[in-house]
Amino acid sequence: MTGKRRVGILISGRGSNMQSLVAAADDPDYPAEVCLVLSNRADAAGLAFAEARNLPTAVVDHRDFSDRAAFDAEVAGRLRQHGAELVACAGFMRILGERLTAEWSGRVLNIHPSLLPCYRGLDTHERALADGVRVHGCTVHFVSPELDAGPIICQAAVPVMADDTPSSLAARVLKAEHAIYPQALAWVASGQVRLENGKVRAPSSGDPDQTLFSPAIRAR
Ligand code: GRF
Repeated sequence: MTGKRRVGILISGRGSNMQSLVAAADDPDYPAEVCLVLSNRADAAGLAFAEARNLPTAVVDHRDFSDRAAFDAEVAGRLRQHGAELVACAGFMRILGERLTAEWSGRVLNIHPSLLPCYRGLDTHERALADGVRVHGCTVHFVSPELDAGPIICQAAVPVMADDTPSSLAARVLKAEHAIYPQALAWVASGQVRLENGKVRAPSSGDPDQTLFSPAIRAR
């Protein structure tokens, strides 16, 4: 018994956020350990990384199931089989239904590339650029049945630069994703952050005087 919470990571593709969680979990003091990397796509690049690290992997292809409930039940079964206590969705491109999210309430996290509740769904960087916002970012939240609408655990704001393209902005946001996801998972795994009556309970932290100005404002 290590005292670490067992986390199953759900992916669909590249898996760079999964890699940031695996790297964080390498630290003996990290409060979670990765017990399973599960993908709904057999060709997800992240699976090769997990296999190379000798982590247990599984593929549950959503196309093999007649409906979402059946797919969710198989995913939940695999998670239980590996003793998962927490679930981290990391670029997992399937919506988890009501039954699974209710059963695992407060134990399923997701990372989303925007400052929620702005830009739920896809193409967040394109939409942020089209709107001309000067500050964009990413969010880790608990998963609820409504897409990208669950209670917020942690956010990072990044500036939008004048010459940004969707891919340059995505790269800046991704760097922040890799910083906040391991931190948010550690808070949940250690019990410092939890879901209570639909709200995130977290110790107050941060510098109340710290503000991100974008573009930067010079003192006159
Ligand atoms: C990330 O931007 C994540 O926020 C979003 O999908 C992307 C997945 O990237 N949900 P990766 O597979 O973690 O590299």
